[in-house]
Amino acid sequence: MKRNLFLLGNGGRESALCFKLNKDKALVYSLYPNPTISSYSIKSPDFTKENLYQQIADFVIHKDIKMVVIGPEKFLEDGAVDFFESKGIKVFGPSKESAKIETDKSFAKELMKKYNIPTAKFEISDSKDRSFDLKNYFSFPFVMKVSGLAAGKGSFIINNENDFENAMDSIYDKKSFGRSAEKIVFEEFLEGDESSLFIMTDGKKFLTLPPAQDHKKAYNSDQGPNTGGMGSYAPCKLLNDKLKNSCIEKIVEPILYAMKKESVPFKGLLYVGLMIKHNEPFVVEFNARFGDPETQSILPIVESDLYDIMLQIASKNLETSDIKIKNVYATTVVVAAKGYPEDYKKDIQFELDENILDDKTLLFHASSKEIFPGRFINTGGRIFNITSLDDSLVKSIERAYANLKRINIPDTFYRDDIGKKGLDYENL
Ligand code: AMP
Ligand code: GLY
Repeated sequence: MKRNLFLLGNGGRESALCFKLNKDKALVYSLYPNPTISSYSIKSPDFTKENLYQQIADFVIHKDIKMVVIGPEKFLEDGAVDFFESKGIKVFGPSKESAKIETDKSFAKELMKKYNIPTAKFEISDSKDRSFDLKNYFSFPFVMKVSGLAAGKGSFIINNENDFENAMDSIYDKKSFGRSAEKIVFEEFLEGDESSLFIMTDGKKFLTLPPAQDHKKAYNSDQGPNTGGMGSYAPCKLLNDKLKNSCIEKIVEPILYAMKKESVPFKGLLYVGLMIKHNEPFVVEFNARFGDPETQSILPIVESDLYDIMLQIASKNLETSDIKIKNVYATTVVVAAKGYPEDYKKDIQFELDENILDDKTLLFHASSKEIFPGRFINTGGRIFNITSLDDSLVKSIERAYANLKRINIPDTFYRDDIGKKGLDYENL
């Protein structure tokens, strides 16, 4: 039986997916692959932007490809899953309506409220005037979030009048978020520690991947602006067994039930962004796809056959009842262009020979392109990831940084403290 798939997306997350699916002996077809994806997959023909999904569908049917796997949220919002399924193609990913759990935060918050799922108290604004009113309703600190997609950059922590004015300026005057800011979620600030829990589900049954922790702020000690994520590690022991069971009981089971009940059953990867406050879990956000850079730490420690599980889910019939995890830790550090997440350096050319990395370290390219053999240029802010594996968290962190020291690329930066918080959770 053929084991193959078409992967949409070409960032660090998709590099890790491609790496793992390749290990599982599945043949991956890719579109405009980055250098890592390129080395683990077969590149499809160049398709034109117009009628892209139709061209992919024709290719998938022609090559007898078993499923399409969708990485980035923009394809979900665009209705790619619905399109491929209407052509009889199996897809790992939720429909456009189900993806609203991520693409419309006000929808997610209302659903959580209706089904008593623990999350920060909130109000929704649909105008500048209402936003001014809501400022007086909440006390500092509170959080303002654009309801639509914003590449991880649409949340503002409001500590004082000045922060509020800056957020209002960015949202309503500069219109930095376009239509994504038609609604703004105002919510109370939750003090606590964050963790990301990934659920693989066909809408009825589900499997849990090892919890990870992202590092959203740009600079060391969680300083600077929010980013798409600057590093991760897994497993994250903040979620001990008791807390994990509590998340499943209070969050995962109720949200899957709620989505089924509201006729938007979820199929694919449900990302639960958690805040743990006084040993109780609260939802910060849901995403409708694998997280980046958590995936780069989680997938290398998964022993089970990911292809089988994804195909079962794409077929809406999850049969696997348990995911086997290796007894190792992974730490991922993102190397980004200077200036990211704001206006960052473009056209950084660099050389990177994978042979300088040790044998427990993986290189996952993200926004980069190979211009000559061994010579690359950045095509975005987060350029590549270094993921190191070892039998303890501290060793995997040390290994990642020892490898990073061998790589010295001008005009780039990375955080020096990825995984550090995780060491405090080891004995929880
Ligand atoms: P989001 O855009 O919802 O993913 O939020 C981005 C980041 O902002 C989260 O990972 C948290 O670090 C922070 N954040 C969001 N909502 C809250 C909240 N209610 N309380 C505290 N921090 C939050
Ligand atoms: N790492 C955060 C995200 O993928 O949204």
